[in-house]
Amino acid sequence: MKDIFDAIQRCAIRIKDAIDVKDIGYSQKENSSGETQLQLDIQCDLIIEEELATVPSVHTIASEEKEHELIIRENGKYFIAYDPLDGSSLVDVNLSVGSIFGIYEGEWGARNMVASCYVVYGPRVEMVFAENKTQLYLLQAGEFEFVKEIRLNEKGNLNAPGGTQQNWTAYHKEMVDSFFAEGYRLRYSGGMVPDLHQILLKGGGLFSYPATSDRPDGKLRKLFEVFPFAYIFKMAGGDAIDGINENIMALSHDHIHGTSQCFFGSKYEIARVKEVYARNNQ
Ligand code: F6P
Repeated sequence: MKDIFDAIQRCAIRIKDAIDVKDIGYSQKENSSGETQLQLDIQCDLIIEEELATVPSVHTIASEEKEHELIIRENGKYFIAYDPLDGSSLVDVNLSVGSIFGIYEGEWGARNMVASCYVVYGPRVEMVFAENKTQLYLLQAGEFEFVKEIRLNEKGNLNAPGGTQQNWTAYHKEMVDSFFAEGYRLRYSGGMVPDLHQILLKGGGLFSYPATSDRPDGKLRKLFEVFPFAYIFKMAGGDAIDGINENIMALSHDHIHGTSQCFFGSKYEIARVKEVYARNNQ
């Protein structure tokens, strides 16, 4: 795992440099999820492919920017799914963006996840790596230095509700409002990495991206976004669910670009989501 951790650090340093240029360029291409790809997305994808390909334990990689998975080495054991630059449309307005990595052993699927990681490129570059526990690192003078272990409180006070409100179900809206009525504050930038990073570092809260009338299977991708963050939140003492299955980390692999609704937070908020979704989906 150490060699993967080191490779991700090299990726982060190279991606940070790639972001720091004047022209991030629009390409004519769309990715597998139908989003316009920036030249920058493609460049970050290639950086990660290049770095992970040097790691002997990597078997297969799958990128949010590539339609198909890519076998690197038949005798490797890790399957790594990554979103090279999540929230890349926020680069031109200078909001934070991130890279996400889900590390699976033997095969895709949450039940095979053994570690996960994200990097947030903001005013500072930080990396959160979870393998049994969730740890924060800060990039300083070209090296990532350990900062602290991240632990969530039982209950937070931030509410990050994703998706277009007009397409939410009535019970989802009621649930989101119930948190505001309890004093929760709205925090939503439109970048999954910084929005979840904020909840993790400020002690807790709720990030929700529900199934909506225009996206009945949610928007966020299971292998690249939902499972990695579910693992990170659980290892930090929080919780995560998809609003349907009892245990999100027991789910197996479907299509590599498959999406689902998702909810991440501290235990108090996720217990509420579980109760509301169970009551309304009988
Ligand atoms: O991956 C897509 C993404 O940009 C996430 O980073 C973010 O959480 C989400 O989409 C925002 O979607 P919306 O604008 O629909 O709330």
